[in-house]
Amino acid sequence: MALEDRSTVMDKLTSLGKRKGFIFRSSEIYGGLGSTWDYGPLGVELKRSVTASWWSEIVSKREDVVGMDAAILMNPDVWKASGHVGSFQDPLVECSKCNRRFRQDHVEGDACPECGGELSDPRMFNLMFKTFIGPVEDEGSVAWLRPETAQGIFVNFRNAQEASRQKIPFGIAQIGKAFRNEITVGNFIFRSREFEQMELEWFCHPDEADQWFEYWLQARFDWYLSMGVKKERLRLRPHTDDELAHYAKMCHDVEYEFPFGWSELEGVAHRGTYDLDQHIEHSGKDIRYLDPHTHEKYVPVVIESSGGVDRTVLTLLADAYDEDKIGGDERVLLRFAPHIAPIKAAVFPLVKREGMPELARRIVEELRGRSWNSIYDEGGSIGRRYRRMDEVGTPFCITVDGESVEDQTVTVRDRDTLVQVRIAIDSLVDYLAERLDPRGQKS
Ligand code: GAP
Repeated sequence: MALEDRSTVMDKLTSLGKRKGFIFRSSEIYGGLGSTWDYGPLGVELKRSVTASWWSEIVSKREDVVGMDAAILMNPDVWKASGHVGSFQDPLVECSKCNRRFRQDHVEGDACPECGGELSDPRMFNLMFKTFIGPVEDEGSVAWLRPETAQGIFVNFRNAQEASRQKIPFGIAQIGKAFRNEITVGNFIFRSREFEQMELEWFCHPDEADQWFEYWLQARFDWYLSMGVKKERLRLRPHTDDELAHYAKMCHDVEYEFPFGWSELEGVAHRGTYDLDQHIEHSGKDIRYLDPHTHEKYVPVVIESSGGVDRTVLTLLADAYDEDKIGGDERVLLRFAPHIAPIKAAVFPLVKREGMPELARRIVEELRGRSWNSIYDEGGSIGRRYRRMDEVGTPFCITVDGESVEDQTVTVRDRDTLVQVRIAIDSLVDYLAERLDPRGQKS
């Protein structure tokens, strides 16, 4: 019996996240810092699975996409040109009674959602974090923490294209931190002020833009499926005109049905020629593309896929969270697809003697040698050890018993089906490799 009422899943994930080392409140021993989070030992493994899979699909497997890694601090003129200094703002309203602040578009009606007090008129609030370069804090030394990684790609369009000798259509991809001084944050790591983006800027001929938009929309939707996310909890939603960002001609969000409702994981946007046009105008540099065959010189259209690493991690956790009963005992488990599970296998000696611990440790070493994060656990009954691993989503538990020492076989227990098979240690690597291969995933 799987969990049916998902309304408390976010609270359960927050506490499991801390207890098991997925996600901690930032600087917790000092009382934390609003909506800022640290990834613990298992959280960082999960996050790295997300970014590794994205990079592999978007960059490593494709000849027509190159990667880059731009600095977080950029010349402030970039943000004037991109429109962020002038337009990257949200309407802020403040309650006259409790002084709480809200994003006007997050409030239904015109009273304070907390105390019912009267709300102020909206005031536009720029979301970029401001800082200063050097010792003097004046207007001439202002710099911004980037609110998106995309501009680092646009200003390097010509550099990256020429250096890699790519021809249009091609893409430039980047994964990195972004910062936004959000007015309302919350839902665990869903909306925070420091987060990580995975962005692909795809440069194409204006005549082919609509086809590429469709192509990337589908490809991105499929990627979430390949991560094991349930299809019925994913959808694509086109933006209405009043939702479109200042640069976008068209945008569809990939959304996930979280316990708190359908919410955005990623935007696939048709940015037109907006960004490159702006940088050409503001920098005075001609960064247009020259087609080597037709000799046409033009500003390519950008199709962007912009996803959040943290939101994907939250999706994987929320989607995997489950509770069931085994022989009358409650079980909490994370049903991660094996290839994204933070721990791939756990190896247990049945007892702490008769050569079992040594053999179990040898197996762990062998699995770790394949870069499969695996652990050795000899504490408590086998049942308890299984439960500990179920709770962190480990797909395979391997038990070494007396027979193993005699005939070099072990039992492998599957987290989801609970089926145990006895296999030769010699064939363990192949057995796991087949099941940890992302190509074998279905949703
Ligand atoms: N370059 C386009 C861009 O930045 P966006 O829709 O503002 O577009 C893209 O952001 C993605 O970044 C979002 O779909 C989301 O996954 C992630 N994101 C944005 N703001 C976030 C926040 N405050 N906390 C966590 N993730 C965020």
